[in-house]
Amino acid sequence: MSEQMPDQLPAADWTSKSLSLNCVGAGLVGKTLCHLMSRHIQLNQVINQSRPSAQQAVDFIGAGRPFGIDSQPLTQLDPANIWMITCPDDLIESVGNKIIQSGRLQPGNIIFHCSGANSSKIFQMPQSADIYVASVHPIHSFSDPRSSLETFSGTPCAIEGDLKATKVLDHLFQLIGADPFPIDSESKSLYHASTVMACNYLVSLLELSKMMLSQAGVDHKKHSNPLKALIEQTLSNYLIGDAQTALTGPISRGDVDTIASHLAALENAPSDWRKVYCSLGNIAADISSKQSLASPKSLQAITRLLNKKDADRNND
Ligand SMILES: NC(=O)c1ccc[n+]([C@@H]2O[C@H](COP(=O)([O-])OP(=O)(O)OC[C@H]3O[C@@H](n4cnc5c(N)ncnc54)[C@H](OP(=O)(O)O)[C@@H]3O)[C@@H](O)[C@H]2O)c1
Repeated sequence: MSEQMPDQLPAADWTSKSLSLNCVGAGLVGKTLCHLMSRHIQLNQVINQSRPSAQQAVDFIGAGRPFGIDSQPLTQLDPANIWMITCPDDLIESVGNKIIQSGRLQPGNIIFHCSGANSSKIFQMPQSADIYVASVHPIHSFSDPRSSLETFSGTPCAIEGDLKATKVLDHLFQLIGADPFPIDSESKSLYHASTVMACNYLVSLLELSKMMLSQAGVDHKKHSNPLKALIEQTLSNYLIGDAQTALTGPISRGDVDTIASHLAALENAPSDWRKVYCSLGNIAADISSKQSLASPKSLQAITRLLNKKDADRNND
């Protein structure tokens, strides 16, 4: 059975079940996407490291045939139009390239992965292969596939790669309720760093603010946070509006003395605390300058304080 892609494939040109999919790595992401996609596309093989794990994934998805890459030869891989590589990031390159080198892909096939950090260039495709590569990164936390099935709709997905592949995948991901948007292949690392800032480092920032509170002697119960309402209001203001609507406080008002007192209080704290305070303060000063509430003179004074070198501070 040949699984060739039509040569010209406009995004909305294919209909339900006219294409087939193999999933390599049906864990949290693979299982969820296969379940959602199997209503629109024919799911052939579900390929995991072990066959029992692949069988469990098939049971969850309700479609596909299990394949254990550790116990079955690659020659037993069935053809498919689309190959989705959703094994852990560190394995995408080796597993993907092993699949490519197996000779089981056919001209016109698409191979893509779902990593945020890597681009489709991770796949080493022989120039003559006529196989299209892509990556699609869903901005979604897949900690529980069953609840992801309910919440996936509306998920923004960053897509890059060969045009023929991105057209098909854009359409497929729209069919399962995603909101795909293009990303430049070269910018994939910066894009991923931004998601880490918004998610992981937001947690770091919130934890740091809580540590500062404890250092200030505020005695709060283990699971309560006196900053909770402030955090929620600020996030809501930012998400409903923008940075200029959400920024309040001393840098927004241009209170130079308040910033000087914060910096003095941070002198005896771990140096990372002060570094974070000053770096983020500089960004706040840029936002404040667009709000035009603080005078340019006070913002300049604040910026000078925030950027004072350690040696200059010691000489003060
Ligand atoms: N988790 C998220 O929230 C999230 C969000 C966006 C994007 N992503 C991306 O999605 C991808 C998958 O992440 P995940 O969290 O779903 O990973 P995961 O839950 O750890 O699942 C990985 C799967 O890969 C399989 N696997 C491991 N080695 C393999 C091999 N050599 N050959 C074939 N299959 C193999 C595993 O099968 P066995 O059970 O047999 O070992 C497992 O089913 C990653 O690129 C990740 O960056 C994840």
